[in-house]
Amino acid sequence: MAEKENYKVADMAFALEGWARIDWAWQYMPVLRLIKEHESVKGRHPLKGHTIACCLHLEAKTACLLKVLHDLGATIVASGSNPLSTQDAICSALAEYGVHVFSWHGMDALEYEENLRRMLEWEPDIIIDDGGDTVSMVLEKYQDLIPKILGGCEETTTGIKRLKAMDAEGLLKFPMLAVNDALSKYLFDNRYGTGQSVWDGILRTSNCVVAGKTVVVVGYGWCGKGVARRAEGLGAKVVVSEINAHRALEAHMDGYRVMDVMQASEIGDIFITVTGNTKVIRRDHFEKMKNGTLIANAGHFDVEVYIPDLDDMAARVYNSRENIRTYEMPNGRRLHLLGEGRLVNLAAGDGHPIEIMDMSFSIQLLCALHIAGGAELKKGLQPVPAFLDDIVAKYKVESLGIKLEQLTPEQEKYLQGWRE
Ligand code: ADE
Repeated sequence: MAEKENYKVADMAFALEGWARIDWAWQYMPVLRLIKEHESVKGRHPLKGHTIACCLHLEAKTACLLKVLHDLGATIVASGSNPLSTQDAICSALAEYGVHVFSWHGMDALEYEENLRRMLEWEPDIIIDDGGDTVSMVLEKYQDLIPKILGGCEETTTGIKRLKAMDAEGLLKFPMLAVNDALSKYLFDNRYGTGQSVWDGILRTSNCVVAGKTVVVVGYGWCGKGVARRAEGLGAKVVVSEINAHRALEAHMDGYRVMDVMQASEIGDIFITVTGNTKVIRRDHFEKMKNGTLIANAGHFDVEVYIPDLDDMAARVYNSRENIRTYEMPNGRRLHLLGEGRLVNLAAGDGHPIEIMDMSFSIQLLCALHIAGGAELKKGLQPVPAFLDDIVAKYKVESLGIKLEQLTPEQEKYLQGWRE
């Protein structure tokens, strides 16, 4: 193992600004606060002795999670899960707090990898991953850590897809909890979180109107559904492209036009990819698109919009506005790519709304506590235990002041029986 570094961030002078953003987020994270309160009664430190590697989007809400993990006794090592989602002010504040953070906004691919390495030099026994890069690096370059790893959690759909592939090859030799697939995560984060934050990113970046425009949503999973619904709310004519017949029908019955990307390319004003797949929008599609089209990606990796084709086709490439790169074709037609084709809500925004990440990070926290608490888990990818999922929903309902209906004994009996 190389020597461990304490932290590596852009500039510690940004810390004050970082604290202001973290304080702002913390006030809207009641579930995280409740769990922290509950876990730290009588000065307990249930995570003491554990080192948790967190490869996450390093923005204010994430900092709230990392602070809680730190306060509950863990040593926290962190790296950003995307070069453009890392906020330097947040990293400085975290470093000041004692988190070993290795990340800066705009790091290149090599620096990104180096930062993952710096994180793993701390020999974590728990991993919290967003996108699967940490686990992937452990399997490829840090196998000696595997016996020590108690388990981990994965935040996102793309990460789950990669873990499934690792598992299928028999490589995943420690437990990984599929946080993305917990009800308290995907029903809210993927749908309402992505639905709102993608539009936040597009609107603040472009300053364009959505009402009356044709918005093409490519992919109708939980995230795509959210993006389409909010587009509708903003007054757009929504078109959906899907590879799956069930989802295509769902989109159709939700009231949207459904067609393939080629056909949509001729009519769309704004394109958003939400598929988790590669080269979803490519040369054939770019060739058909109208002058002034906005193109954004909301999937985890920057592979959905195939940028090399744009580079190849364009006569001129320039930045029109912050986070907008314009590709001008030889005939003067201009296509505008937002956030370098990286996930637009984080590359050109602050990510999901705070209250949504409160739930996502609360389930992450409970899973980390579950693993650290010595839960017996099998190796490989597995669901989050339902009782943890229920805690998050219960706390969230409580924090909203919602009173749940209670079953009468008669109703309970009725539900359990079959004779009546
Ligand atoms: N903020 C922190 N992590 C995030 C994620 N995975 N998606 C959206 N916003 C986030």
